[in-house]
Amino acid sequence: MRELLSSLGPVTAVIGAQWGDEGKGKAVDILAEHFDVIARACGGANAGHTIVVNGKKHVFRLLPSGSLHPHVQVYLGSGMVIHLPTLLEEIDLLRAAGVEILDRLHITRNAHIVFEFHKEIDIAMESMRGAYAIGTTKRGIGPAYADKASRNGLRMEALAGTAADVRKYLESRAPSIKQMYGVTVNIDSECEAFEKAQKILVPLLTGIEQLHLWIAKKQKILIEGAQATLLDIDHGSYPHVTSSQTTAAGALQGLGLPPKILKSCIGVAKAYCTRVGGGPFPTEADEAASVRLRERGGEYGSVTKRPRRCGWLHIPDLLFSAQINGFDCWNITKIDVLDTEEVIPVGVEMEEGGKVTWKNMPGWKTSTVGITAFEKLPKEAQDYILFIEKKTGLPVKLIGTGQQRGEMIVKS
Ligand code: GDP
Ligand code: IMO
Ligand code: MG
Repeated sequence: MRELLSSLGPVTAVIGAQWGDEGKGKAVDILAEHFDVIARACGGANAGHTIVVNGKKHVFRLLPSGSLHPHVQVYLGSGMVIHLPTLLEEIDLLRAAGVEILDRLHITRNAHIVFEFHKEIDIAMESMRGAYAIGTTKRGIGPAYADKASRNGLRMEALAGTAADVRKYLESRAPSIKQMYGVTVNIDSECEAFEKAQKILVPLLTGIEQLHLWIAKKQKILIEGAQATLLDIDHGSYPHVTSSQTTAAGALQGLGLPPKILKSCIGVAKAYCTRVGGGPFPTEADEAASVRLRERGGEYGSVTKRPRRCGWLHIPDLLFSAQINGFDCWNITKIDVLDTEEVIPVGVEMEEGGKVTWKNMPGWKTSTVGITAFEKLPKEAQDYILFIEKKTGLPVKLIGTGQQRGEMIVKS
């Protein structure tokens, strides 16, 4: 770990390389021990980052996964869209687990608020799309970002104002929302939730000045990516994408950090591939293999509980993600999920027309769960990792071998 840490600069980003759920949360939880500040830049409660510590499962949606470490300062950035009741619920859940966060949580005034009506619009729009539905998480993400882009949104700074102003805002929006989507804005209950949040969150409001202050004080910052590169609104498989910029550049924009500050970027990719929601998936497995991977990998959405579509690693996607984000190295996760596979197909090239060229890698048919040294991996598993390194031209520095915090190989 020391070698990996010394190779990282003062600001490091952990970014998903596929369609999300790669295990970013676990990587951040492990690295957070060695950082001063953990920052979330974009997205909202569509994220679900699961970590398991001493057998206890924690699911993070808005707070970064590094929050369990009591020494870290936690920052929610301007690119985020925040559902207030979910944030309060997460704060309470942490407290119930014995972790206090209010004294070290900092929320930028510029992040946008996700109201209940955004969630209802999300559901209404999905239903209107019919066969063209995106398969969103129904957390109001698209409608909240749409309000932001059309300059109709309300930002977290509103918490420092009066509840009467928010009521006025909701009253002004309600008729057009009803007309366009058939959604009734429940003004009383929205205001009630807002006032509840005001009581707790107002003292936590800050701005990018806080982040820059930490940087000036040489505090080490870890950026936790949410969603992933192939879900990026500009570079992902549009329209089956989320509504934010999920790349390293998007994270810097979302935080208000200059691009040149990012000296290290870790790409997180599963040893196979999953996707939840609709959209193209060139290396999607057949039904039998998909079921195997899903059951072994626990591939059900941590937010929506939806079964994730499962398939095989796709090298062109890794190259694409590495290019866009400027990855320095990989964290390949969940290699243990492949333990029972006889043969592991890998998509190595994609021809025009979307035809995938495959390479079949031999399986290792033995348990890798909990292995923490590269040399202890079976030869075939080592070869699998070396193959990824060769094909992508990037070193694999971290290899996940289980859900638990300690189940990670740090490779030199
Ligand atoms: P994220 O959204 O990228 O943080 O990933 P999720 O938490 O949504 O999904 C990853 C799932 O795989 C979670 O249930 C993790 O606990 C689990 N996980 C992470 N790394 C590993 C690993 O190396 N092996 C196994 N078996 N599970 C892992
Ligand atoms: P984490 O951070 C996996 C997917 C949804 C849907 C599309 C749009 O846990 O990796 P949205 O609700 O954002 O409008 O849905 O994006 N999606 C994710 N898939 N992991 C995520 O986050 C996701 N966040 C959004 O399934 O296909
Ligand atoms: Mg997830």
